[in-house]
Formats: sequence, structure tokens, C-alpha cells
Amino acid sequence: MDYRVMMVEKDRLMLQKLSGVIDRTPGFTMAVRYQNTSDALGQGKMFNPNLILLDIDHENTIPLIESFHESYPHADILCMAEEWQPESASHLVAAGACGCLIKPFNGVELQDAVKEFAQAGLEKECETLVFFSPKGKSGKTTLIANLAAALARRTHEQVGIIDADLQFGDMAVFFNLTPQSTIVEATRDIRFLSPVTLKRYFVPVSKRVHVLCGTTRPNYIDKVSIPALENLIRMSKSLFRYLLIDVPPGFNPTSISAAEASTTTYLCAMINGAYEIDHMRKALEIFKDWPDVEERAKVIFTRVSPCTEEMRRKLETQLGYPVTAIIPNEYLVVSHAADNGQMATEIQPDNPLAKSVDRLAEQIAGHRVPERWST
Ligand SMILES: Nc1ncnc2c1ncn2[C@@H]1O[C@H](COP(=O)(O)OP(=O)(O)OP(=O)(O)O)[C@@H](O)[C@H]1O
Ligand SMILES: [Mg+2]
Repeated sequence: MDYRVMMVEKDRLMLQKLSGVIDRTPGFTMAVRYQNTSDALGQGKMFNPNLILLDIDHENTIPLIESFHESYPHADILCMAEEWQPESASHLVAAGACGCLIKPFNGVELQDAVKEFAQAGLEKECETLVFFSPKGKSGKTTLIANLAAALARRTHEQVGIIDADLQFGDMAVFFNLTPQSTIVEATRDIRFLSPVTLKRYFVPVSKRVHVLCGTTRPNYIDKVSIPALENLIRMSKSLFRYLLIDVPPGFNPTSISAAEASTTTYLCAMINGAYEIDHMRKALEIFKDWPDVEERAKVIFTRVSPCTEEMRRKLETQLGYPVTAIIPNEYLVVSHAADNGQMATEIQPDNPLAKSVDRLAEQIAGHRVPERWST
């Protein structure tokens, strides 16, 4: 489909510059352009635009979008701003916009933006899943990587992974990636990014799974501020249906702010015959501040042997809290798969680990619809 563009931009030079971009971008034709919004609202209709690029830097944004949406109910509205403000994204969408571009933009960014909202709209209902561990070596990085693949396969939705284990994140190693950009660059640039441009900081590992890799050196932790991380999470929510976040072990500003931003936080621990149950119980105490703790904080044990329903119930009794999933002891499978940059769930879908991860994916995918309705 060809886009007939109406551009509304107060700044004359910017209007000229961006008109040039429209003229040079295949699939887009400039139908009409205005500096003045009331002219655009009054006279633009005869040009029958199906895409409106609307400057939102110079006026009261929400009523402006609403009036364009009302006058042009069949056109898609893309906002243009000099800086992206993640906190306002949902308001823009509620007012009738499909997305936002940062000025100035090039043809590729424009094409990506329309592709993005044609796929799903700006603010998808994103399920943000944070994987927390009371101590290190819980098996959570392994779990996240496999779960992301399982979720994508099961739901055909876009799945994002953020490696926010800021000092020793190893998601990149896991997927054999040497990324050009990481969480350091993404949080550095976040104020000037929109969801469309942010997506390029993620590395695609399959058609539907994208990874934002962690820092390349432990001391880069200082480069990632908590407010920037919070913005990053907020903006990433508009790119994916499921967003999985790996955080550093223990309670620290990073893990706490990610957990606060989550739909669900999974507390993970690997069974080693040591003090995992005690640690888990202590960690849960802290999450009990959440009024909806049982809904939002869920427990997963990994390397469970034997990995049976009976064992799950036993762990549950010991812990005194529901155990959402147990993952079997499958060292060879996970390490072999990781060595190849592939997921166990993909190369051996019938393996017990793959199956238990897939069951968890099924639970997550069915989240909104209780079993009794779906059957
Ligand atoms: N289900 C499992 N069965 C057996 N071994 C596992 C399992 N899951 C992970 N492992 C192994 O345990 C080690 C730690 O796993 P992983 O890196 O996923 O944990 P982590 O919690 O992310 O650790 P870290 O705290 O270092 O980030 C790895 O060597 C991994 O191969
Ligand atoms: Mg890890």
C-alpha cells in the first residue's frame, strides 16, 4: 500500500527537510503539507491522506492528536517529536496516535515505523517478566533464553530479552553474539530514541526473539543509571508482547527497579542441596510488600531431580509458598546447546528440560485466559 502523507510541522526548515525524506522514500507520497495545524484540520481533507505526520512539540499534544483523529478517522497518525518521552506513550496512543518518530528521521526509520505499527500498534499489552535470584548460579540465564524461544514458538509473538545483569551478564555468550550495541548504548541514547529506533539496539537471534545484550565489562555498570534503565524497560514494552529481563543476583537497585516494573517476577534458585529453600523464603519476605504478591512473585526451582509433580509439591510444602515451575537437571543438554548458541528447547524439543520450559511458556501464554475458559 502506498502512503499519502499529510505533514504538519511548525518549523519551516524542518518541514522542508522532512518533505525531502518523504519524496525520496519509496511507498510514500507527499499529498499535502502545512505549518499551521488549523489549516491542516480545515483544508487537508480534500487531499485524502492516509498517513498524518504530526509535529507534537509545539502544541498541547493530547487535544491536538484527538482533533486530528476525529477529523481523519481513516488515517494513521504518527507523532513527530524532538525527544521521546516514554511516560507519555500510552497517552498518545489513547488519544489516537499509532507511534512516534524522532525528528529528523530518514526514510528507513519512517518505513520501520509504519511497519512496526502496522504489526501491532505502539503500546502492545506487554507482559514483562523479570527473573530474580536470591544468589548467583540459579540457572536463570539458561531459563530465560530457552523460555524466550518457547514463547515465540508457541505464541508467534515478538519476544524481547534485556540482559540487565549489569556486571556479569552472559546472555551474549549464551547466544554467541558479538553485539554492536548493548544496554550501555541503549540507556545512554534513550532520551533521543523512539521505540522504532530502540529496536535496532536489540540483536535478532531468530525471527521473533531479540536480545539487548549486557555490558561488555563489569565496570560499565556505572554507565547504566537506574532512571535510564526504567525508561528503557518502559519503551521496550511497546516493542514486544513478552519482555524477559535478566537481573543481577540479590537485592540491588537494578533488580529492585526491574521487579517493580514487572508484570511477574520469577524468583529462581538452583537446587544444590544447600540453603536454597531458606534463601528463597527470605527473598520472598521482601516481595511480600506487594499487595498482590502471590499473583506477581512466582517461584521456580531449577536442576530439580527427580523432576516430578510429587517433588514440586514437596518443595512447595518446605517453602510454604506456591512453586510455579520446576526445571530438571539437564546439564549436558543446556551446556551442549549453549556451546552451539542454540536453545535446548529447539534442538531437542522432547527433552525433559525443553518440555518443562514449554509448560511454563504455556502457562504464561495462557495468562489472561484461565484454563476453564479456553477449553
Ligand atoms: N536445568 C539445569 N540443569 C543442569 N545445569 C544447569 C541447568 N540450568 C543451568 N545449568 C548450568 O548451571 C550453570 C549456571 O546457569 P546459568 O548461567 O543459567 O545461571 P545464572 O543464574 O544465570 O548464573 P549467574 O548468577 O552466573 O548469572 C551453567 O553452567 C548452566 O549450564
Ligand atoms: Mg546469568
